[in-house]
Amino acid sequence: MTNDKLRILSGIQPTGRLHLGNLIGAVENWVELQKEHDCYFFIADYHALTTSYADTKNLKDDIRQVAIDLLAAGVAPEKAVLFKQSDVPEHAELHLLLSMLTPLSWLERVPSYKSKIEELKEKDLGTYGFLGYPVLQAADILIYKAREVPVGEDQLPHLELTREIARRFNNLYQDIFPEPKAALTRFPLLPGTDGRKMSKSYQNTIAISDPPEVVGKKVGVMVTDPARVRRQDPGHPDVCPVYQYYKIFAAKRQETVAKECRAAARGCVECKKELAQILNEYLAPIHAARIELEKEPKLLENILKNGAQRARLVAAATLAEAKQAIGLA
Ligand code: TRP
Ligand code: SF4
Repeated sequence: MTNDKLRILSGIQPTGRLHLGNLIGAVENWVELQKEHDCYFFIADYHALTTSYADTKNLKDDIRQVAIDLLAAGVAPEKAVLFKQSDVPEHAELHLLLSMLTPLSWLERVPSYKSKIEELKEKDLGTYGFLGYPVLQAADILIYKAREVPVGEDQLPHLELTREIARRFNNLYQDIFPEPKAALTRFPLLPGTDGRKMSKSYQNTIAISDPPEVVGKKVGVMVTDPARVRRQDPGHPDVCPVYQYYKIFAAKRQETVAKECRAAARGCVECKKELAQILNEYLAPIHAARIELEKEPKLLENILKNGAQRARLVAAATLAEAKQAIGLA
């Protein structure tokens, strides 16, 4: 029976194409988890609006592309429930209810709140919706009574807040929400091509849909060990972002690469060429799956519709329980 399985939920924002950081930090983990657990995965389009509300012309296409990326990367609709957040309006209604009992001070002290405003200075994020981002995320998680949430480390404060909100609800009304915990991935954060965290807003990403030439170009301009100026200088692989990629994508090669780098027996140019080839081989089956999915817009639509129907069964039941507990039913 599905109900003795561990319930797992995670979401991803449709802010452009998925990149290798998303794949390593989240999606690969989802693909593993779906084999054994009761998994709900969704495209967080409401969340995307909190920062992109002023420019939604690409939203529809971005949602479609993320769905294709997820499916091509191995999320399987027969194993996991895959849906789009706004197709399950129960998330929004629970968000409203939780917003009533969430103190402003809890939201103002979430670290990403101030840092994102700073980072995205060109946007006006002084909105009610943006402040409420973590309340919406809490609703996403609690509406499925999820026990585990596979996310990257950057999401830990959101998980902590979710637990606090659950506790507050349970204390005020009735004990309905289990406190979820984060399930971190085994990999550290994947650096972007400039060595900072890979992120859309830094424009340092390698998209999983990037064709081989683009991957080659992006890897070609990656930063390496800054102390290695000339080819004959010995390198320090541990501070080199290129080497981080070897650790994740070519574990079998990592020892040799490190040794050769330290002995100045390998140049950065050839090191990057080899890495580009490794990444392109890794991405080839995903690209093949993308091409097939691109041909089937109806199939894609049906997968998401179906997923939303299944998600709503659970979400509606929890919402009814929450309203009952509050005294609204
Ligand atoms: N905030 C998450 C991110 O930016 C996306 C997200 C929204 C999410 N709702 C969620 C992740 C619920 C896990 C659970 O990556
Ligand atoms: Fe980095 Fe490779 Fe150059 Fe060493 S040889 S510094 S690992 S790119």
